[in-house]
Amino acid sequence: MEWAADEKVSQFCTWDTYTCKDQALDFIKNIAIPHPWLRVICINKKAIGTVSVTPNSGCFDSCRAELGYVLAYKYWGKGIVTKAVKIVVSNIFQEWPNLERLEALVDIDNKGSQRVLEKAGFLKGVY
Ligand SMILES: CC(C)(COP(=O)(O)OP(=O)(O)OC[C@H]1O[C@@H](n2cnc3c(N)ncnc32)[C@H](O)[C@@H]1OP(=O)(O)O)[C@@H](O)C(=O)NCCC(=O)NCCS
Repeated sequence: MEWAADEKVSQFCTWDTYTCKDQALDFIKNIAIPHPWLRVICINKKAIGTVSVTPNSGCFDSCRAELGYVLAYKYWGKGIVTKAVKIVVSNIFQEWPNLERLEALVDIDNKGSQRVLEKAGFLKGVY
């Protein structure tokens, strides 16, 4: 709830700000646990965010996957997500040998997220 209930965090995300604990429990049960690749970012055994890689579906698109990440507000600006993304990039292509392209879709106003991707070596394309 520390990040999911915070509008500063959710404003650029595809989900609406959580308003009750049941939404978080539902996320853990129905999205996080069955997800093909979702990791929790922890500090001192406390969850402060997540990073995920979601493979695209379909026979032509399964060589691509989408990167996603989120971090609780009080930890922003310390290089945490850049480090997490770099770790993902350096491992995921070995873990999934069929993967050819890792991409992330970012709101044009989400400058912090764009910067994370830049620092991790992603190239910018405009859709
Ligand atoms: C985007 C987000 C994941 C970044 O995590 P983080 O750990 O704070 O990122 P880092 O500290 O590794 O790097 C952030 C960079 O963006 C920069 N930045 C942050 N806000 C910025 C802004 N408004 N304009 C320009 N640069 C900005 C920081 O200065 C830093 O760059 P620097 O190292 O060159 O100074 C975090 O802000 C977040 O969880 N946001 C809400 C969820 C979200 O937007 N997820 C991504 C959806 S695509």
